[in-house]
Amino acid sequence: MQKDKIVVFGSFVVDLTSWAGHLPVAGETVKGSMFKMGPGGKGSNQAVAVHRAGGDVTMVTKVGDDVFGRVALDFYKNEGMNTDYIFIDKKTGTGSALIMVDENTGQNQILVVSGACDTFTPEEVDSTESLIDAAKIVLLQLEINMDAIERVVNMAHAKGKTIVLNTAPAQKLPDSLLSKVDIVTPNEIEAGALCDMTVENEQDARKAAQILLDKGVRNVVITLGKNGVFVMTPEKHELIPAKKVKAVDTTGAGDAFNGGFVTALAEGKDIFEAARFGNIVGALSVTKIGTAPAMPYRDEIDSFVQ
Ligand code: RIB
Repeated sequence: MQKDKIVVFGSFVVDLTSWAGHLPVAGETVKGSMFKMGPGGKGSNQAVAVHRAGGDVTMVTKVGDDVFGRVALDFYKNEGMNTDYIFIDKKTGTGSALIMVDENTGQNQILVVSGACDTFTPEEVDSTESLIDAAKIVLLQLEINMDAIERVVNMAHAKGKTIVLNTAPAQKLPDSLLSKVDIVTPNEIEAGALCDMTVENEQDARKAAQILLDKGVRNVVITLGKNGVFVMTPEKHELIPAKKVKAVDTTGAGDAFNGGFVTALAEGKDIFEAARFGNIVGALSVTKIGTAPAMPYRDEIDSFVQ
């Protein structure tokens, strides 16, 4: 089977997750039922999703010289993932995310502090050049410093790599960056932030996708939660329905989708097939608790497909 190399350049943070019967509103204290600490960060979750789905992935991230940083190294070693490109910052601590999950609906709220992975230097980015040379696909998110994102995108673009940008967390981006991206993968909130509009349904997604194509992005994939995934290329568009599963924790579902999506692209599938595969990986991830630890293995994905 074709298996092109994938580089995920992004965040690692430690997730500190609490579950409760409902999420607190501002000023409210809610007594929770469970707490877990574990590996997280959108970049890292996506790399783990690729690895477990059978992809050939190298994670590039940066952690502090601290206990949370060792969580990353231990986790990757345990998973059998490459740790050659885990930079260590002596001054800034590893990032963290405070996550609250509503145990009735599986919905979540996240406050992420990127910490060390927000401090990539130009020299560190440049030192990944041979890794990027060997890869076909470079996947990024928005949890690391923007100057590093731009430097990676410029390097990968100049080398003709397929650049997939998961524009999470939500923020506006300059057209100069978007025009070098092959595929953007926002969710509805992130698509709204990119296009200055509200995205709630297929019609909105279609409008947002067209705006993004006009900004120079080559293809657009908007994840719409239970409404599926909207894919638009210059030639055609399609709404791929969501898979029905019982969700216990939706945290990291977008990461699972992105990981599955690029794994399928690296196997030679087209963007629509890759989105179908990503949909399955995303659906399976919400049936388990946690983020990186909830990413499904290839045998689980294959059994679900059958
Ligand atoms: O997408 C989920 C992730 O977002 C969590 O793992 C948390 O770390 C935040 O970065």
